[in-house]
Amino acid sequence: MKKNVAIFLSGGGSNMRALVGAMNAAHPGRPALIVSNDAQAGGIAWAKGQGLETLVVDHRPFQGDRVAFERAMLAALAPHKIDLICLAGFMRVLTEVFVSPWQGRMLNIHPSLLPKYKGLHTHARALEAGDQEHGCTVHLVTDKLDDGPILGQAHVPVEADDTPDVLAARVLKQEHRLYPLVLERFLNGITEPIFLNADLSQP
Ligand code: GAR
Repeated sequence: MKKNVAIFLSGGGSNMRALVGAMNAAHPGRPALIVSNDAQAGGIAWAKGQGLETLVVDHRPFQGDRVAFERAMLAALAPHKIDLICLAGFMRVLTEVFVSPWQGRMLNIHPSLLPKYKGLHTHARALEAGDQEHGCTVHLVTDKLDDGPILGQAHVPVEADDTPDVLAARVLKQEHRLYPLVLERFLNGITEPIFLNADLSQP
């Protein structure tokens, strides 16, 4: 039986699209639910257009009460019989209230080679540090920010004239390769990390 995968996003959802695209007939998962904290997120409009089930829990009415927001998300999720959550550009920090019932069943993609550059502005920080390489990481989520066992990383080179936007685009392309691969491996019971290098011969 296929596993029901919920994908959480806050923006355009290009990683969500890559994950949905990978979940074909032979894949161990199905995109059961697309979740956002923002009804206006581009990813939600796209998912609706694809006929996918969507769920929005707006964080704004809960301002200052993260726990109440997380409890509302847990309650809204419960009827959907979800097996695994993929955070894919979900820009809310999750506390142990949400994480603990999902620990071991929730993945995240982060745009850096963790443990480097947890949090925001990862591309600018890699450039400021003069790093020669950068990349992205898929990991299991714990209640520590951008922490938890690493399931896969993709490396990209940093070029001399890179701006944060140029570097972000190079990394994002690799995110779209890495996340579907790690998801499929994880659903097949493989937790040993995989490391990819960008194939620069590809356009
Ligand atoms: C991606 O680069 C993802 O790694 C990052 O947000 C972007 C979302 O893009 N996530 C984080 O920074 C989480 N801390 P997308 O909406 O096009 O997938």
